[in-house]
Amino acid sequence: MAARAVLLATGLVLAGAALAQAAPRSVWQGIYSEEQAQRGAQVYNQRCAACHGAALNGTGEAPGLTGGEFVSHYDQLSVGDLFERVRTSMPQNAPATLSRDEYADVVAFLLKANEFPAGPNPLDRRTEVLASIAFTAQKPANGAGE
Ligand code: HEC
Repeated sequence: MAARAVLLATGLVLAGAALAQAAPRSVWQGIYSEEQAQRGAQVYNQRCAACHGAALNGTGEAPGLTGGEFVSHYDQLSVGDLFERVRTSMPQNAPATLSRDEYADVVAFLLKANEFPAGPNPLDRRTEVLASIAFTAQKPANGAGE
């Protein structure tokens, strides 16, 4: 029984690793779901909009979170970098107070607001998985995302 449980657990870990490898590799490949971005919009409205603006255009010290300038800050980095930036420093008046799921949802909302495409599966909430997804400002001409 115990041995079976171990085998099962090993199988799950291997399946997880295979999934992670087969996962989309760039922000252009539908790395979050529409439903998740909608949840993220609610998180945004409650926890971010007071500073960053209801239309994500920024207020006072808080910069806008859409458009070329915002996207350029993460160009050639990874989605993990954006996720960690938000997770460890935002909301600025109470950093790291949301759950990982809420941070993933709000990052999905930011991706949607910046016109990166939605896909069938939600954005992962594990930094190490997000670190393998490239954030590229320009949509690749061949659609490959590299
Ligand atoms: C109390 C005001 C405040 C709140 C609430 C807040 N932010 Fe910010 N945010 C700022 C300020 C000010 C900056 C710029 C200075 C800094 O980075 O700390 C910033 C910077 C950022 C950046 C970096 C922008 C860039 O161009 O690289 C991101 C991304 C961000 N915030 C996302 C969020 C998200 C998502 C939330 C909600 C979970 C949030 N912020 C809540 C004030 C706020």
